[in-house]
Amino acid sequence: MRNDRIVFVIACVLLVGVVSCRGDRSELPPVHLNPNMDQQKRIDPQEPDPLFKDGRGMRRPVPGTIARGQLRIDDHLYKGMVNGTFATTLPSGIKLDRWLIKRGQERFGIYCVPCHDPLATGNGIVYRRKAGLPKPANLHDPRIASMGIGYYFHVITTGQNAAFKQLNMQPMRNVIPARDRWAIAVYVRMLQRSQALTPTNGGTN
Ligand code: HEC
Repeated sequence: MRNDRIVFVIACVLLVGVVSCRGDRSELPPVHLNPNMDQQKRIDPQEPDPLFKDGRGMRRPVPGTIARGQLRIDDHLYKGMVNGTFATTLPSGIKLDRWLIKRGQERFGIYCVPCHDPLATGNGIVYRRKAGLPKPANLHDPRIASMGIGYYFHVITTGQNAAFKQLNMQPMRNVIPARDRWAIAVYVRMLQRSQALTPTNGGTN
């Protein structure tokens, strides 16, 4: 008799455990039998923290901190400069091949054509439509075409007269990775060469 009751109670508990709640959704956190240190008190982004004098929970990194993989001491690769002048060669890590040129053409199409137009003569759709936009440079201008390739990298990286005119060409170092900036610089040079060709100078330019 006694055993029957115990069996009955266990059966009920099992039944409830197996059948109930199945498929139900709950807003409550799941039962956590052994919490270890999974959930601890913490300061969430934008939360105040009285521990610090200024009361901010979000702290700046210690000055001079460099995140892993972000050390940029190679001036050739990251600034387009060699010994203080604009580089005339590609950095050692950038290989001039078909892929780089294709990539440059594609990225030029995305980032430069709207202002500079597909042939880089400075007559892009944004300039034609937007009154007040400064005239984008014609990249075949002899002054510009005579610059070392590092100069184009530099202009893409830091912008052109960006600080003086709001609508001017803005720095794109945070938008276009260094490798792609080199690809674009190469493509600019290709455009300059190809557009200067005539039936008689046959590639000597
Ligand atoms: C928002 C429009 C805009 C975009 C996008 C833009 N540019 Fe420009 N760019 C300009 C303008 C405007 C100037 C001329 C600024 C001046 O002379 O004050 C200029 C100037 C230049 C110059 C000439 C610098 C000199 O010595 O006079 C180069 C080179 C150049 N751009 C390359 C590029 C490349 C490459 C891209 C794409 C990555 C690009 N630009 C994207 C507007 C743009």
